[in-house]
Amino acid sequence: MPDTLHERRLRRGRRWWDLVSPVHGSAGGQTTRVAEVALTHLALGPGAVVLDLGCGSGAALSTLSAAVGPTGRVVGIDHSPKMLARADAVVRGNGLANVELRRADATRTEIGHGAFDAVYACASISAMPDVPAVLAAVRTALRPGGRLFVFDMRLVPRGWSTPVIAVLRGVYAAGAGFAGVDVLDTARAVFDDVTLPDFPGQEGRGQPDGGWPPLTMFVARTAVSSGSAP
Ligand SMILES: C[S@@+](CC[C@H](N)C(=O)[O-])C[C@H]1O[C@@H](n2cnc3c(N)ncnc32)[C@H](O)[C@@H]1O
Repeated sequence: MPDTLHERRLRRGRRWWDLVSPVHGSAGGQTTRVAEVALTHLALGPGAVVLDLGCGSGAALSTLSAAVGPTGRVVGIDHSPKMLARADAVVRGNGLANVELRRADATRTEIGHGAFDAVYACASISAMPDVPAVLAAVRTALRPGGRLFVFDMRLVPRGWSTPVIAVLRGVYAAGAGFAGVDVLDTARAVFDDVTLPDFPGQEGRGQPDGGWPPLTMFVARTAVSSGSAP
């Protein structure tokens, strides 16, 4: 049977992330800092259950593990075997007994039904071949009132950045299987409430609605009941 577009994108992405896995996360601990910022937005406490979606080489695992403590649990999901091997080295090397790693295509796996208090997704959702499917799966996986923290690319062309973003979109699609779907816009359609905190160090400036920098940071919530989000 011929490959579907999804399978081709998934395979392209896996090859890319396997290839870059030896050097991934070596750019000055940026991901670890994003995880520390996420803690202030995810309201994680001892005993919480948190998903690290597209955990990559495991840069956030120690931070998340410490936040939920020995009575909590961290589940890291990734599709790249080589990224997961690096994440596993982090888990073993730091004795993170409350962390479990799973290899899966997060867009086609049932992640869980209300099993998680929080989901952390740093630079991972835009790398997945089906953004609407993974956001719907995350919504299902969160308990009512649970929170999703996202830090990601936002390749929405605007003004002078239009040609630059067009090039970035092309490179990201060719290299890592980017499907061209905007993560923030999709999350706004899937979740009950989406808020955009200011980037650290840029308080009061707000985030650009597309354009430059091509990044976004947001918190999405599921409603506590059929009423509104908390
Ligand atoms: C840019 S890396 C980010 C890794 C990590 N979150 C971090 O901040 O260091 C993107 C990760 O998403 C993973 N990924 C891409 N598509 C995926 C999919 N369909 N299911 C699970 N993981 C996927 C890749 O394997 C890669 O490790």
